[in-house]
Amino acid sequence: MISFDRIDALKHEGRTLLIEWADGRHSLFHSIWLRDNCPCPECRHASGQRIIDSVSIPADISPASVKLGDDGFVEIVWSNGGHASRYDPNWLRAHDYSADGRTRRRPKLWGAEMQRALPEARHADVAANDVALRDWLSAIDDYGFAILRGVPVEPGEVTRVVGLFGFVRETNYGPLFDVKSVVNPNNLAYTGLALGGHTDNPYRDPVPTVQLLHCLQSSASGGENTLVDGFRVAEALREKDRGKFDLLSRLPVRFHFQDKDADLTAEACLITLNARGEVIEVRFNSRSLAPPDFAPDPIEPYYNAMRTFVKMLEGAEFQVRFKLEPGDLFVVDNRRVLHGRTGFSGE
Ligand code: FE2
Repeated sequence: MISFDRIDALKHEGRTLLIEWADGRHSLFHSIWLRDNCPCPECRHASGQRIIDSVSIPADISPASVKLGDDGFVEIVWSNGGHASRYDPNWLRAHDYSADGRTRRRPKLWGAEMQRALPEARHADVAANDVALRDWLSAIDDYGFAILRGVPVEPGEVTRVVGLFGFVRETNYGPLFDVKSVVNPNNLAYTGLALGGHTDNPYRDPVPTVQLLHCLQSSASGGENTLVDGFRVAEALREKDRGKFDLLSRLPVRFHFQDKDADLTAEACLITLNARGEVIEVRFNSRSLAPPDFAPDPIEPYYNAMRTFVKMLEGAEFQVRFKLEPGDLFVVDNRRVLHGRTGFSGE
């Protein structure tokens, strides 16, 4: 590990251990948690998977002795059975749960100001250099999107970019979805019509996560891409109108898609929260919203809430816009960032 977090003092009282760090931070750890996460080879397989059975640890387990080793590690001998554990201070610091959110990576919310500094990288760099690839993937994790310039203009190249970090999940559209104007389209994406901000395939369970769009040919006019941070807008709605936010995050709606080969349906809230109440998914696509049927809950307040949310999603203060040139690619986290486009003229 690069950093080394030094411990100044250990205070053990009953079933808790208080660590005082050299930089003044205090962290409290419980005996049951420490014993359960003992990293020794008897408790953890070399693969990193747990061997010890968490529920077999006595509820009243406590340290018989605690000391700071010469190498800065925390050394504990446990009262029940005398098992000895050693903890790396860097690991303890990284897993400090004393304050909520201290160790967890959180999304960085953005609005139109992001236009000035769109997260982007060069294909030649991320393909050749692991650090450049990591930085580009970190941007996707932080902002829910990133651009890649200079991708070879070859059909199928987009799946090779996926191969740099993951694998393609195939759908009824195949491994690739060619977005172009076609006659008698089964999907509005195949037209030159403008598309308002939406997430893709909301009717699919599991919903697509990371999506890549690679531009092979651009139209003479129009065809600008628009992106909106759904998390940011959901938080803005939570702030502005808690009642509407609650309706959209509590009442599920159904999304539906049907053509001659596929009949897909999935149910989800427009805003999904995790157990901590944090927004973890925004799903919206007016084209595939099925008739809501959540009686006895009220229909009209739901539509009012949806109207407010969608109008906010369309707000210029939340939107970034860019045009892709052949060879440009962008990635979106489809559970967070809504994408749309202005109209374009086809081939
Ligand atoms: Fe789309």
